[in-house]
Amino acid sequence: DFSNQNSVLSQFVSEMRNVSIQKDSMRFRKNIERIGEILSYEMSKTLQYKSEVVKTPLGEKQMHVPLNDLVVCSILRAALPFHNGILNFFDKAENAFISAYRHHPDGGDDFEVIVNYLASPSIENKTLVLTDPMLATGKTLENVLKAFKSHGAPKQIHILSIIGANPGIEYIENVFPENTHLWIAAVDDTLNSRGYIIPGLGDAGDLSFG
Ligand code: PRP
Repeated sequence: DFSNQNSVLSQFVSEMRNVSIQKDSMRFRKNIERIGEILSYEMSKTLQYKSEVVKTPLGEKQMHVPLNDLVVCSILRAALPFHNGILNFFDKAENAFISAYRHHPDGGDDFEVIVNYLASPSIENKTLVLTDPMLATGKTLENVLKAFKSHGAPKQIHILSIIGANPGIEYIENVFPENTHLWIAAVDDTLNSRGYIIPGLGDAGDLSFG
């Protein structure tokens, strides 16, 4: 949770939550993208690096650069601008896309998450970066993890999110393997009976794309 620290990140999250500012869908998407960049930078400090000697016009310098073993996966729809922000910093990453939506079988509050599209390279022994601006109950991420089983075993998993609810975060800590790291811009306490984050920001997919 970075929201307790003073940084521009708080301004971006604040604009996304604000009912009068969030109606501007271009700004909303831009804020998602900018937060994707900030969380990427924070995550980059924990990745594996290799040494390389770089020739400059006037000499040589030993530098550290990240191993290029990332597969960045967007959970449609709201993660698309987030994905862009992450690719701005990890421009050599491989990419995956997965669909997930809530299905309410009897029209009530109970729902199951349906995943019916996944396009991904092998993730075997790579670093899988799952991106979803909202982490509410955690059921979406749980089903995404199941869908990835047929694509190999990743070396480690990073989950990037903008707003996470405490019950969902606890759920993820239970269902994901130990080598999983969570990067969340802001943590909210509760969910309502329909599994929406309170106070949250509303429906990030609708606010981004109508
Ligand atoms: C929202 C959000 C997450 C999911 C989080 O997606 O973008 O994917 O719900 O909820 P969970 O943690 O309880 O699973 P939604 O189903 O509204 O789809 P959308 O992005 O297409 O609007």
